[in-house]
Amino acid sequence: MVAGGAGFIGSNFIHYMLEKYQDYKIINFDKLTYAGNLDNLKSIENNPAYTFEQGDITDLARLNEVIKKHGVTHLINFAAETHVDRSIHGGIKDFVMTNSLGVQMLLDAVRANEIERMVNVSTDEVYGALGLDEDRKFTENTPIMPNMPYAAAKAGGDLMCNAYWVTHKTPVIVTHCSNNYGPYQFPEKLIPFFIFKAMADEPVPVYGDGLNVRDWIHAIDHSSALDLLLHQGNNGEVYNIGVDNERNNLEITKMILSILGKPESLLTYVKDRPGHDRRYAIDSTKIMNLGWQAKYTRDKFAKGLQETVEWYLENKDWVEKIRSRMNEINQHIKG
Ligand code: NAD
Ligand code: DAU
Repeated sequence: MVAGGAGFIGSNFIHYMLEKYQDYKIINFDKLTYAGNLDNLKSIENNPAYTFEQGDITDLARLNEVIKKHGVTHLINFAAETHVDRSIHGGIKDFVMTNSLGVQMLLDAVRANEIERMVNVSTDEVYGALGLDEDRKFTENTPIMPNMPYAAAKAGGDLMCNAYWVTHKTPVIVTHCSNNYGPYQFPEKLIPFFIFKAMADEPVPVYGDGLNVRDWIHAIDHSSALDLLLHQGNNGEVYNIGVDNERNNLEITKMILSILGKPESLLTYVKDRPGHDRRYAIDSTKIMNLGWQAKYTRDKFAKGLQETVEWYLENKDWVEKIRSRMNEINQHIKG
């Protein structure tokens, strides 16, 4: 069962798994918040190996019902409120409910139904921020010190996983991945947001001085890492996932504009995000020692970004449908 499979990374993961394992059955359990989009899975909606079940991970009765109905053996959780800006400027309750309480409900469901393994997909943001001049990266031993409300809520879920493992030996693995890019990403996050804006010849708003650094990984590489951990990870452990691909926001912005053939005059500096984490960087030695290899390594980033931009250009229906819903979605969230 894939919780949150209608979102960006969850849908990439479902496509990846169905292509790789012809004998697996996948249940996509998703609440369909503003970020959930079944169009991401349109090409497989009639595949007999795939089933969609609508539900909220904070609803234990619904979780138990779906798990029993389908005889779920493994669970991977992508379900979350994920946008940092919404956790700063909007209500935080949904973040805490899903990212913290929801994970606890999943752990209860894993225990009650004797599920063989759960993987809780989390983020490098739980480690807080690094400085631009620091020579260090986040390791699995870096203390958890989240700065953003989103990240604090994610950390709550992660710590609950550890507590269930220590107390009940609940078979759970936690992952901390860096920033993802690729197809099917909701256009509120930097890369798809700027692609959408630039495609419409609108200014792209860079926060602050544009020198904040993120460590970018393709969603397909995140998926292959999760696949490996689902099969070969050790219960009770934490794994970092990243490809050593630190880039600042100015560099990313200029690359997107250049791929789209748009002028750099679209780049506009705007007020900084409050509490904006300066730099994230992931040390993924631990998972690489398990044999994980990424396809889009740092030297292939230009290729990965080019293919990503082309995907948004080629999938006009997907883009236009979301574009037409954006105002309604933003109103709904504000309200
Ligand atoms: P997303 O916002 O695109 O999708 C989230 C999905 O979860 C949506 O389909 C939504 O409908 C579903 N959902 C939300 N609340 C739910 C609930 N209560 N019950 C059931 N479903 C619910 O997210 P994403 O960017 O694909 O991120 C997936 C996971 O990966 C998250 O846990 C996130 O913290 C983590 N992560 C994301 C990134 C990134 O760069 N996007 C990086 C590292 C880790
Ligand atoms: O590190 C993993 C995290 O990456 C995930 O856990 C989060 O779910 C995901 O949203 C992402 O968080 P960020 O805050 O790093 O991503 P975002 O795309 O919002 O911003 C990336 C950088 O770009 C960040 O430094 C802020 C900047 N930015 C973002 C937007 C939306 C801008 O300069 N302008 C913008 O309009």
